[in-house]
Amino acid sequence: MQTALADRAGVDFVLALRRRWADTLYPAMGRQYRERLGDRTVTEEADVRALPAYPWFSWLERGSQKMLWRAVMDALDSAPGEPAAEAAEAAVELDPALSLPDWYTDWDIHVQPGGVWSSERAAAVYEHGAKLVMLGENDDYAFHRVFVETALPERQYRRIVDLGCGFGKSAWPLKAAFPDAEVIGIDLAAPCLRLAARRASQRGLDIRWRQACATATGLDAGSVDLITSTMLIHEMPLSALEALFVECARILAPGGVLRFLDFQFTGDFLRDMAMKEHGARNNEPFMPGMMAADMTTLADAAGLVEARWVAFDERGAGRLQTLAWPARSEWHFPWAVLEAEQPA
Ligand SMILES: C[S@@+](CC[C@H](N)C(=O)[O-])C[C@H]1O[C@@H](n2cnc3c(N)ncnc32)[C@H](O)[C@@H]1O
Repeated sequence: MQTALADRAGVDFVLALRRRWADTLYPAMGRQYRERLGDRTVTEEADVRALPAYPWFSWLERGSQKMLWRAVMDALDSAPGEPAAEAAEAAVELDPALSLPDWYTDWDIHVQPGGVWSSERAAAVYEHGAKLVMLGENDDYAFHRVFVETALPERQYRRIVDLGCGFGKSAWPLKAAFPDAEVIGIDLAAPCLRLAARRASQRGLDIRWRQACATATGLDAGSVDLITSTMLIHEMPLSALEALFVECARILAPGGVLRFLDFQFTGDFLRDMAMKEHGARNNEPFMPGMMAADMTTLADAAGLVEARWVAFDERGAGRLQTLAWPARSEWHFPWAVLEAEQPA
């Protein structure tokens, strides 16, 4: 995106603010927390709420997120428009009869005005905002490449489905890594899928884009070898998650593989509380419920086997062997991969 100087300054300011929030304010809050605890090992939410840095950390999280969307919208409004690419967009399999679930449309997810689904502009705002949310450290989309390279078994896949693909950044590396597989990106948001189709065609990637709920993909039973999702399941309520695992078990072929990248609690009280409250501060109301519930039980109940979570370190080795993360002082998301298999 070409941006005017003033807009670029706005974006840079928000980025710098968010970096300070993560790498300076959060560690300062950690020091205050350890001082307050002293020799005690049992902690309570009241201990955290009493920390001098706590209100600043909380307010800045939500405030800077709102500023982020404002800065991106301003920059997009003054940027030259992109040429339409109808040929690429025509490839999107839209479902005109699909009605978006209330739990999906009732919240401006990530505090983005209008969510990611309400217009073409919303999808474009999401695309640019997604870079800032990753603090500018994912401009080349390395995060999803690391997921594909480290979290997926090396196999010949015939069909791969990426659920909740957004504007496509989680599906592109799947096609790049498994060029012989049919890759299908599924999302509820038609504007995101149209943008995904355009971006994939610019990258020379032949991917199918399909509008559907992840709980009802419309794909044939037993027709998929690998199902992925990244950053999807914390956006779904528990009732929909139950249906999601049932649908995955239905479409997975014998021996098929499921890998969902999302969040798990770390056992560090301060970090876990910050994460739980991130759900409220960032308009992700189902996140704490997903993290507190046992997704492995839902996978088991749907008939999948070997379900377990392992940690994911996006700056280092990617998928780790257990649910334990390397120590990091700054604020960062506790990424984890849910793994499950369809019995052979
Ligand atoms: C946080 S984005 C993640 C996008 C992409 N996977 C990534 O990692 O960049 C979540 C996406 O899931 C989609 N989504 C949410 N609930 C869904 C559902 N039930 N079925 C299909 N897509 C869904 C949203 O529209 C959004 O595009």
